[in-house]
Amino acid sequence: MSFVEYGDTIKDGDTAIVFLGHESMFPVKVQHGSKTQTKYGVIRHSTDLIGKRYGSKVTCSKGGWVFILHPTPELWTMNLPHRTQILYSTDISLITMMLELKPGSIVCESGTGSGSLSHAIIRTVAPTGHLYTVEFHQQRAEKAKEEFQEHQVEHLVTVKNQDVCKNGFGVSNVADAVFLDIPSPWEAIGHAQSALKIEGGRICSFSPCIEQVQRTCLAMEEHGFTEINTLEILLRVYNVRTISLQIPDLGKAAEDNSSTGFDSSNQSNQGSLYGILQQGTAQFKSGVPLKEMVGHTGYLTFATKSLF
Ligand SMILES: C[S@@+](CC[C@H](N)C(=O)[O-])C[C@H]1O[C@@H](n2cnc3c(N)ncnc32)[C@H](O)[C@@H]1O
Repeated sequence: MSFVEYGDTIKDGDTAIVFLGHESMFPVKVQHGSKTQTKYGVIRHSTDLIGKRYGSKVTCSKGGWVFILHPTPELWTMNLPHRTQILYSTDISLITMMLELKPGSIVCESGTGSGSLSHAIIRTVAPTGHLYTVEFHQQRAEKAKEEFQEHQVEHLVTVKNQDVCKNGFGVSNVADAVFLDIPSPWEAIGHAQSALKIEGGRICSFSPCIEQVQRTCLAMEEHGFTEINTLEILLRVYNVRTISLQIPDLGKAAEDNSSTGFDSSNQSNQGSLYGILQQGTAQFKSGVPLKEMVGHTGYLTFATKSLF
């Protein structure tokens, strides 16, 4: 297993995802002799995990079962230990596309934070690209390095422990793209400009507040960036639900005309979305938005450095 290459079977040292349900999963470091507790009982790594295929249904000691999933950046984002606020997959997907990331891209990032975005960038630029990520908090930088090693992607990433606003990214004229998630991104725009290739590239800055965006846009303009655009992306999730509705009683004449679409002959029609559960009630499947949706995360400001 690695975060950039699929492995069929679970091995000693892998990071696997124990899946109990969509709302309930956690990462586990697979180790000979180790045990993991779940609400369904114990999983013994040597007998229950090592050598089994990813995606297997594993029976726990109390008779319940879980699925063991191969790690991906998206699953890691949902389960990683938070050391900071992190970016989630909705923002990450827009960032990846708008920065035009692809295998071979060279990317600069700051701050590394909890490494949520870093894992997604590494997966996208592998096997020939590279991520230079800068984090001024020493423990966070060290923890990120450790995780990249555990996830077998350390050859694709360089972690630098320094202040990006003072010292930049430690590279110049190499990057295809730069990403900033720091409180004062406007102070790092000059360094971003010089980290990008001479022939140009893309930049993105993530900020929760509009005042940060305003200062960043001005700094981008001052440093010659063009195509400056600020976007926000909002995710709406739907649950599939069976809805039952009362059919109004319109009397015998309406029944005879039967143009309601809820004809009882539909009951035997497997392909139909409608069914009649009992006399007077129609049942159908529908996509229902969740009562609460994720609100504002941050503004994403994109811009281009061009040769001319
Ligand atoms: C919100 S977190 C980044 C989260 C990250 N994007 C993720 O998805 O996990 C911001 C990080 O930037 C770091 N940071 C803030 N200012 C910095 C600077 N001037 N130089 C380097 N790192 C900085 C903080 O220590 C923090 O870890």
